[in-house]
Amino acid sequence: MASLLAAAGVSALAGTAEAASTLGAAAAEKGRYFGTAVAANHLGESPYVSTLDTEFNSVTPENEMKWDALESTRNSFNFGAADQIVNHARSRGMAVRGHTLVWHSQLPGWVGGLGAADLRSAMNNHINQVMGHYKGKIHSWDVVNEAFQDGSSGARRSSPFQDKLGNGFIEEAFRTARAADPAAKLCYNDYNTDGVNAKSTAVYNMVKDFKARGVPIDCVGFQSHFNSASPVPGDFRANLQRFADLGVDVQITELDIEGSGTSQATSYTNAVNACLAVSRCTGITVWGVTDKYSWRASGTPLLFDGNYNKKPAYNAVLTALGGSGSGGGGGSAACTVSYSRTDEWSDRFNGKVTVTAGSSAISTWTTTVTVTSPQKISSTWNGSPTWDSSGNVMTMKPNGNGSLAAGASTSFGFTVMKNGNASAPTVGSCTAS
Ligand code: XIL
Repeated sequence: MASLLAAAGVSALAGTAEAASTLGAAAAEKGRYFGTAVAANHLGESPYVSTLDTEFNSVTPENEMKWDALESTRNSFNFGAADQIVNHARSRGMAVRGHTLVWHSQLPGWVGGLGAADLRSAMNNHINQVMGHYKGKIHSWDVVNEAFQDGSSGARRSSPFQDKLGNGFIEEAFRTARAADPAAKLCYNDYNTDGVNAKSTAVYNMVKDFKARGVPIDCVGFQSHFNSASPVPGDFRANLQRFADLGVDVQITELDIEGSGTSQATSYTNAVNACLAVSRCTGITVWGVTDKYSWRASGTPLLFDGNYNKKPAYNAVLTALGGSGSGGGGGSAACTVSYSRTDEWSDRFNGKVTVTAGSSAISTWTTTVTVTSPQKISSTWNGSPTWDSSGNVMTMKPNGNGSLAAGASTSFGFTVMKNGNASAPTVGSCTAS
């Protein structure tokens, strides 16, 4: 871990007087990394990059190192987008997780068309070429991803590799990987394996067998994609610990938790605490920087909202890691707004704006609603409006007490007379104090 942190340009200062104020720095003080999935096509967006560079000290390419991205045609490799991410990360002292070498998904069609002997050599060639290209630059590789079935069977999932090469493809991939980059930690990575269940037990038994027979494996990744149907399991820590007790590191590799406000924040706290309670849990990666680019954007599962505001979940994670930010005490007040059309008639519609406090409690808020002439706002409720001279821009403040707890929401409503134009109003940014 010391070498990883050194590679990540992070110093873990025991007993520092001041609490760390970023996720990466706070995790480093706990001897761990805090990473995020990154997409190369967002590296030109300045708030994306500044949030990434400020808060995180490890990255995982979200799609750019998958087989279809790197070798869409047999033995013709395209490292451009993945290199962009790796170069960005390394030039800033961040560590890089490699994701992923052998997976049934995002796999080009030609692979599934091969016969067994050819498939075996294509798999080994893919591992050798990719790990060779990044040799010495990757702290952990997800060598095999999602090889087990969901549910109670404990069986391997059907895939070209499984179906043609049998169970042995997994250990073959790990042996090839060890030779290709001996310095990289080699991980098995999967989802729905976060708690103790039939699937995680099947993975556990495989890892136990690998350790007993000397098959090279260093770590197990727990994707940790959670929502209300699949919440953070109560035995997350216990499950991480039983794997660690086999002699492997464990990592939370793709954490995201659908939800909002304080309940999402509490779930994040529980997930982070599960890792912190296991000494071999070496780091946490969240599956994206901002809700707006999440693969599950509608579930707003990440730590920064679509405007890169820190969410209550961010503050919860920072606090769990022992850090303290602007939201931790003395507090910078912030809020966000969202708009929806709740009712509509031929001549008018009702709009609703929800105001949500950021990671600190706020005592008041203000936002604007602008309609397009000849539209007119004919009535409002649950707010105290003022108007500009055109009558098209309404500034809304709380009607009475504007206090909101961190992450808490309130809403106001209004009716827009269409006068022939049904377009949505523009809601301005939210300011709070
Ligand atoms: C997801 C990406 O986030 C999406 O952009 C892509 O369309 C599909 O894959 N398990 C994994 C990740 O191991 O690679 C997946 O990433 C999410 C589930």
